[in-house]
Amino acid sequence: MTHEIQNFTFQNPTKILFGRNRIEDIDNEIPKDAKVLVLYGGGSVKKNGAFDRAVKALGNREWDEFSGIEANPTFETLMKAVEKVRAGNFTYLLAIGGGSVIDGTKFVSAASLFTEDPVDLFGWGVGKGLPVQEVVPFGTILTLPATGSEMNSGAVITLVEKKAKVSFRGPKTFPVFSVLEPELTYTLPVRQLVNGLLDTFIHVMENYLTYPVGALLQDRYAESILQTLIEIAPRVIDTNHIDYNDRGTFMWCATNALNGTINLGVPTDWSSHALGHEITLNHGIDHGRTLSIVLPAMMKVRKQQKFDKLVQYGKRVWNLSGSDEEIVDEAIAKTEEFFKSLGAPIRFSDVNLGEDVLQALVDGLTRHKKVKLSEHGDLTPEVAMEVYKEAL
Ligand code: NZQ
Ligand code: ZN
Repeated sequence: MTHEIQNFTFQNPTKILFGRNRIEDIDNEIPKDAKVLVLYGGGSVKKNGAFDRAVKALGNREWDEFSGIEANPTFETLMKAVEKVRAGNFTYLLAIGGGSVIDGTKFVSAASLFTEDPVDLFGWGVGKGLPVQEVVPFGTILTLPATGSEMNSGAVITLVEKKAKVSFRGPKTFPVFSVLEPELTYTLPVRQLVNGLLDTFIHVMENYLTYPVGALLQDRYAESILQTLIEIAPRVIDTNHIDYNDRGTFMWCATNALNGTINLGVPTDWSSHALGHEITLNHGIDHGRTLSIVLPAMMKVRKQQKFDKLVQYGKRVWNLSGSDEEIVDEAIAKTEEFFKSLGAPIRFSDVNLGEDVLQALVDGLTRHKKVKLSEHGDLTPEVAMEVYKEAL
């Protein structure tokens, strides 16, 4: 069967400010009369100076802060920020942090002016899945390369009460600008660097590992991000020798992996993420680490559906040769080896979880209406169980 590149429309409005001393430039991006709410997490941005520099750059603008956005940000915490924005009539939001703070800020941006119940921004069996209405504009200062949230319109939020970790997106929830200063990554602990490398790698895979449609540039672009990550990863996690260019390259890889470029006109498969979110929800495992557990198992269980792309991946990314079958098996082994070399888990047993937890994960997928996943829509709860079992 031959395929062709699917129609696509592409617009990404986020302005990127990359390099040294770019926080200071936010003064040019935020309206002078804006009333700004600065949002951040547990305090890393105070330690590495990003917060103080940002506040200084705000100059005479009126501003206040909202702290305590947790990793895997919760609806419950974020609704407190929504109340603050509404009560204080803030007109601009500034997120300083990783994907969680940026995603949380996206939610606050959309929920603050939403005339319906903010729960209904989410579908997935949680709310009505209504479109985003007006938003409070926001910019971001990225401190953790991983999610690509700094240049996309998606946000993943945990609703504790509803027991769900689900996303929403819309054309209005792109950041207006994002500051990418490689030096802000210097304070990241190895664990978070690894999480970011994994998340970036697997974002590319979700956009790439389906079936070929002849989108040659998108494929090469995806493969070049993967190869770049494989090259820099050992140096990025060596925190005794921090290299500016490596950190800058890592940051730009993460942004490009999920800013809507490599997936243009090609089929995508976000199954590993769907299965991973249930693991984070139930067991608090870091997002990146759920992916390094799920993806190798996904590759094995879905080998036939993804065969052509797996061969291409093996040849081009890992320079493998041999029969197609051999290439595919070795490509999967190489992927696992790469994750292991980063100290990442590749099995449930690596995070001390066993078969007894699997049924609850599959039930979660069903509850969240994730029952026809993959590029073919044929990844049912039964197949999800197979993947989870393969990952034991
Ligand atoms: O809270 P603070 O003190 O800032 O500490 C954070 C947090 O504990 C710390 N950190 C961040 N920058 C640092 C730093 N520590 C030292 N120095 C720095 N420069 O790192 C910890 C983790 O931060 P978090 O933002 O949670 O990590 P990440 O960027 O990996 O984001 C994960 C969240 O993003 C979602 C995930 O599901 C998860 O909820 N995702 C969002 C996506 C999107 N919007 O497009 C796509 C992804 O697939 C993903 O699902
Ligand atoms: Zn991810």
